[in-house]
Amino acid sequence: MKIGVTGATGQLGRLVVDKLKAKVAAESIVALVRTPEKAADLGVEARVFDYTQPENLVAALQGVDKLLLISGNEIGQRLPQHKAVIEAAKQAGVKQIFYTSILHADTSSLELAGEHIATESAIKASGLVYTILRNGWYTENYTGSAKGAVGAGAFIGCAGDGKIASAARVDCAEGAAVILTGEGHENKIYELAGDEAYTLAELAAEISLQTGKNIPYNNLTETQYADILKSFGLPEGVANMLADSDTGASRGGLFDNTKKLSALIGRPTTPLAKVLADALV
Ligand SMILES: NC(=O)c1ccc[n+]([C@@H]2O[C@H](COP(=O)([O-])OP(=O)(O)OC[C@H]3O[C@@H](n4cnc5c(N)ncnc54)[C@H](OP(=O)(O)O)[C@@H]3O)[C@@H](O)[C@H]2O)c1
Repeated sequence: MKIGVTGATGQLGRLVVDKLKAKVAAESIVALVRTPEKAADLGVEARVFDYTQPENLVAALQGVDKLLLISGNEIGQRLPQHKAVIEAAKQAGVKQIFYTSILHADTSSLELAGEHIATESAIKASGLVYTILRNGWYTENYTGSAKGAVGAGAFIGCAGDGKIASAARVDCAEGAAVILTGEGHENKIYELAGDEAYTLAELAAEISLQTGKNIPYNNLTETQYADILKSFGLPEGVANMLADSDTGASRGGLFDNTKKLSALIGRPTTPLAKVLADALV
């Protein structure tokens, strides 16, 4: 039984490979990556795999029984890329495909959800046995801004009072490894969020607590927030997407209280305070 992991040199993919190695022999894991040299430290077989080169994908999937398709990061280009992988998986005889989607993809108001729900539909239409991992927001998306917020004297966003049930990447990775190596996940869709939900004001309060400084949460309009992100040098598309996601969060788009992820990994998800403490080091 071989398990293939795309995006294995990415932040989530590395953690998935690591968690898989704790469960199955390294020989049964295949890292499907754009740059094999970057995969040298993973300790598993690495094969060249670029979503934009459909002609090479079928050969790279030979012998792979289970395939984790980690969604790409080129927003706006992802649907054709993902479709190429799905088609190749079918042709190569992959037995089950697993896909990292977005929380509540079918009802989400986040713009980001569009490519994910379209990919989910393509997977279902392919006839492949599938499992959809609808990952919640990574906690690191917000804690990554903590040091900057301390420097600036405020945490900014436009998520209002929206509760965010984020999960650390490592928890999402462990959930993926459990699903990839477990049974009974055929044709299932899982909402995988963190146990704990917080507002950005509560996050700012935690930053204040951990640093001993007064870091309030400054809630902006979506346009104000996007403009500030652009002034930091973020590309316009990324800034707009982040601001749109915060607006989605203000409407509950990043909230979920089913605790499915902790049930799968058999422990509570990593607390916000811990992920934040790691980010503030
Ligand atoms: N839930 C969330 O909060 C959240 C946040 C951000 C992103 N995401 C989604 O979750 C995915 C994984 O997150 P992450 O933090 O691990 O992102 P990441 O570090 O940016 O990793 C993305 C991975 O996708 C690979 N990739 C991109 N384009 C590709 C292509 N054309 N062909 C093959 N591989 C390609 C990258 O390859 P290289 O290693 O060669 O660059 C990288 O390994 C992201 O790509 C995105 O779809 C989710």
